[in-house]
Amino acid sequence: MKYDVVIPAAGQGKRMKKGVNKQFINLQDHPVIVHTLQVFEQDPWCRKVIIVVNEKEVDLFKELIEVNNIRKVSEIVKGGSERQHSVYNGLKILTDEDGIVLVHDGARPFIEQEHVHRLVEEASESKAAVLAVPVKDTMKRVRNGKVIDTVERSSLWAIQTPQAFVLSLIQYAHEKAQEKNYLGTDDASLVEAVGEDVTIVEGSYNNIKLTTPEDLIYAEAILQAQKIKERK
Ligand code: CTP
Ligand code: MG
Repeated sequence: MKYDVVIPAAGQGKRMKKGVNKQFINLQDHPVIVHTLQVFEQDPWCRKVIIVVNEKEVDLFKELIEVNNIRKVSEIVKGGSERQHSVYNGLKILTDEDGIVLVHDGARPFIEQEHVHRLVEEASESKAAVLAVPVKDTMKRVRNGKVIDTVERSSLWAIQTPQAFVLSLIQYAHEKAQEKNYLGTDDASLVEAVGEDVTIVEGSYNNIKLTTPEDLIYAEAILQAQKIKERK
């Protein structure tokens, strides 16, 4: 099975409070984005990678790709003001309409090949699939500091990336969202908005998105655990 992947990396990482795009933060000597790119570089199913970056950072990304000998990045595309616009810019340059495309956050470096493959297999059958994990905490709906109700947890899943789609479907969903000025919180929500089903594939709790400073502590621990696993 084959797929292409669009990696949005054009954010500013404001919540990480490091004053730089979090893609450049080092985890065990390699920037976050390099960890992410290596997963796809090493996956035989991955044909090519489109990375979407802030235009001021194009040279920085180019250098990282070169120095780390990443060969699958076929295009570096300019990002937009919102993640959704960045993703759309990346999707627009792909042309294999019936092929599978993944959208994966640059800030999720711990994605594992096994989960990518399960996701791609599902998307080839059902056209749209996302990785997700069951929510662990009790969830309550709150208004003005008061609990309105407790949401039934068994039906709640925390949605991750990658998200996988048939290219023509996700391009169409983004096009419609742009026409209607609709901003979704992920790509699957745009597919849902055009009335198509999205299937859940159970992923791993380790596939975190690096968002706030404490995520970096967990990130180092995950990498350490991966190293120990590799040595065994
Ligand atoms: N992203 C993007 N273009 C944007 C905004 C975000 O390509 N205009 C990317 C980020 O680089 C990241 C992914 O989308 O890989 C997920 O977004 P998020 O975690 O929100 O990252 P940032 O927007 O960088 O962080 P923050 O919201 O804290 O500023
Ligand atoms: Mg953001």
